[in-house]
Amino acid sequence: MTGFSTIYKLSLLAVFSLVQGCLSSCPVIECWYTLEKSRGGGGLASGANQVNALLFVKSEEQQHDRETMNTPSDIEHTFSITDSSGFLCHKALNPPEGSIKKPHCELNQIQPQPSSLLWVAPLTDSAQSPLYLQADWRAATIHGLDKEMSVTSVIRTSPESQHSDLILSVTTKTVFVTARLGVPALLDCSFWVDPSSPLHGAGFSVEWRYQFRGNGHLVLGYDGKNDRLSDIKDKGAMLDFEGVHQNGNASLILSETKVKQSGTYICSVHVPYLLAQVAVELEIVEPPSISIHPSPPPIIIPGQIVTLHCEASGFAPLSLDFSWELTDSEGNVTPLGSGSVSGHREGYDGTYSQSSKLQLDSAKLEQGRGGELSCVAAHPGGTRRASVTLNVIGFSTPSIEDSMAMVGVALVLYGLIKFVSWTFTGSGDDESDEKKKN
Ligand SMILES: *[C@@H]1O[C@H](CO)[C@@H](O)[C@H](O)[C@H]1NC(C)=O
Repeated sequence: MTGFSTIYKLSLLAVFSLVQGCLSSCPVIECWYTLEKSRGGGGLASGANQVNALLFVKSEEQQHDRETMNTPSDIEHTFSITDSSGFLCHKALNPPEGSIKKPHCELNQIQPQPSSLLWVAPLTDSAQSPLYLQADWRAATIHGLDKEMSVTSVIRTSPESQHSDLILSVTTKTVFVTARLGVPALLDCSFWVDPSSPLHGAGFSVEWRYQFRGNGHLVLGYDGKNDRLSDIKDKGAMLDFEGVHQNGNASLILSETKVKQSGTYICSVHVPYLLAQVAVELEIVEPPSISIHPSPPPIIIPGQIVTLHCEASGFAPLSLDFSWELTDSEGNVTPLGSGSVSGHREGYDGTYSQSSKLQLDSAKLEQGRGGELSCVAAHPGGTRRASVTLNVIGFSTPSIEDSMAMVGVALVLYGLIKFVSWTFTGSGDDESDEKKKN
């Protein structure tokens, strides 16, 4: 009876939390809010200070009452934001109650302005309603849990109602992409423009830039208003033009990944006077091919030191751990260390090669026997292994049959020697006897 009621209570609790979870799928997000100091105060070089802010996000349908919730005393700024895109109601932005991991959010004040970029400038050819732009504009950049997604939203706060709306959102569901070498890769990026905004339908443009260690270049630029692709474009980089117009799918398609394409890709979406961007990290991860030289290895004379090389090639990134091991006929594995690892060489395709030299002292091998020698190369792209059979002269691990045969051979030999020596000594004696007689 008690068991039943416990189960009953538990399931009731589960249903309750499920319902609550569904209802509160739009999160309250804690942000670092950077305030520009308009008046010179304190003589701080930074000219800005950071405070805590809370974003109360609600979907269009939700009749929200979160404003009445208790706000912690250290929160000076709260924003109640209507998100019709649903981008901010992603589960990666809404950790379970009491979770230590939280999304990371930065909020900044921004100033709408026309862009001078070639593929963006046409957006502001004709002057837009400046009245609409006269409002408080902020941009929130939020990184979801576990690198599942990130989003940047441009928020407009109306001066009259003090109500905040999302106007432009750009999101990616592939914050970190790993791809093998030479395969197609998709870097996700989607955008949304508030349909009730005068900026909606006024055109957009998409720009993908590549950045790696301080260097950058344009991957592609697309003027969506005039359906025009930039002249400068990375080979093999493409957008889905239909998807970009129909669903705001601005994902970058790389037809064939190369090692030197590893880096940060920034997806920027422009609408007249406004811009939002997200970053996607691409890493090309290619495991090594490995082989042991010489193969087959020389037959070892007991006590001799033999040198073997393990060559790993065609891998990226440069992160490889060698280890050698010997497996005897019973399956016991003896680790032999990493050998002496060479410096790396870079190939024409940007992949790396590296080798490890093993000096194997056969005297130190257990019982001086051979076995299977393996080189193991551990790489972020996977562990690869190559093996060769080592034979030590006189210790080729005799089997029972071999031993029987050897005993048999020994017996026959023994008999033969005995026989020969008998006949030889016998006749010899006769001769000497004869000589003595002479
Ligand atoms: C965006 O377009 C790419 C390429 O056509 C496609 O693979 C991807 O699934 C699309 N993403 C969404 C969210 O529709």
